[in-house]
Amino acid sequence: MTKNKTNLEDIVSLAKRRGFIYQGSEVYGGISGFYDFGPFGVSLKRNITNLWWRMFVDGRDDVFGIDAAIIMNPKVWKASGHVDTFTDPLVECNNCNSRFRADKIDISKCPNCSKLGTFGKAKMFNMMFKTNVGPIDSEDSIAYLRPETAQGIFTNYKNIVDTIYPDMPFGVAQIGKAFRNEISPRDFIFRVRELEQMEIEYFVHPDDWEKSFEKWRADIYEWFRALGLDEARIHELDVPESDRAHYSKRTIDFEYDFPIGKEELMGLAYRTDFDLLNIQKATGKSMEYIQKGSNNKFVPHVIEPSFGVERVMMAVLAEAYTEDEINGEKRIFLKLPTELAPVKFCVSPLLKNKPELVKKAREIYTILQKKYHNVMWDDNGNIGKRYRRQDEIGTPKCVVIDFDTLTDGTVTVRDRDTTKQKRLAVKDL
Ligand code: GAP
Repeated sequence: MTKNKTNLEDIVSLAKRRGFIYQGSEVYGGISGFYDFGPFGVSLKRNITNLWWRMFVDGRDDVFGIDAAIIMNPKVWKASGHVDTFTDPLVECNNCNSRFRADKIDISKCPNCSKLGTFGKAKMFNMMFKTNVGPIDSEDSIAYLRPETAQGIFTNYKNIVDTIYPDMPFGVAQIGKAFRNEISPRDFIFRVRELEQMEIEYFVHPDDWEKSFEKWRADIYEWFRALGLDEARIHELDVPESDRAHYSKRTIDFEYDFPIGKEELMGLAYRTDFDLLNIQKATGKSMEYIQKGSNNKFVPHVIEPSFGVERVMMAVLAEAYTEDEINGEKRIFLKLPTELAPVKFCVSPLLKNKPELVKKAREIYTILQKKYHNVMWDDNGNIGKRYRRQDEIGTPKCVVIDFDTLTDGTVTVRDRDTTKQKRLAVKDL
């Protein structure tokens, strides 16, 4: 029997022990809200972002990719509304000085020291990280680390129109880092201060926004399926006006049953012409699109599917984490879709101290490596330990070279999910 035990501590522990995710600056005692990705974590992350790019950019003829700079002219953030409204309510306990987001706690009692009535009035705290550009540290040199990748797309909208001549509707996509000085980073990589986003701004005729919104709403499920997420764990929340971002007229949050409960995985927002009109106002440059074959001009409206890479990773790890029992022993494995698995094949000689086996295994490793790239050589410990390690990394197939390989050219291929083994000719791998 296989049971899906999605416990956050189990995921955190596996992620650390198998080289997926480490606490940022851990050797110095860490820094809250920042994480580092180890060898298998970076592979999993790349496989996720590559899959996304293939599905939403390379796989379509109406979406174009860009990669904008993280630091932008600070006027961007004034015009976008982030300087004035990208804020969370901050309260501080006057007994223990702990700080919290006022909207996330019961402010009658401090969650840290349990004293009653220690919070004053909430202050609005802007979540953008500030820096200075150039050698002079002054008000005039202030810049921000972008809190969303979206503005890099809006500021390039005109460049795309003038250089690519896209038909309407069309989208512009970007994957990149964003930074938010969250008051309370929490739950492993769920809420972090340095995150990666995969965003599309989809420009549409104002009359067509609902049609495009519904199309994206459906297309997003194709993505969930590719990630191997169980649709029964996905829930849509039509966000009420009072909780929507300042730019949105409609937002659907796609929530997932994370180990920490039902929480936002990604969002789909109707940003109207809010951003392009702000750019137009601030720069005096027209953001109008001229409909091909007519003189019809309009400022496009925008549908924005916005995906957070860390939350996708957390959902994928939670979904894939599986425990079962093999011959009375507990086994943990990551049942990852092959496309996402950091290692596709692991190749081992049955015995490490037999040069003829090692030589043959190296030959087979090289063949597979050339063809599949994500192939791992593993000759540490005994074969049982190797299987256990590869199961926890999520490697779909382990290939073992033994003495029969030398005579009949076959190898043992062991399947991660069933643990069944079969013999295959090397040429049939
Ligand atoms: N451009 C729109 C935008 O940024 P958002 O709802 O603030 O919208 C989009 O963020 C997605 O980015 C979220 O659904 C989530 O997946 C991810 N995200 C946002 N803040 C995050 C954080 N502090 N840590 C991890 N992921 C985050």
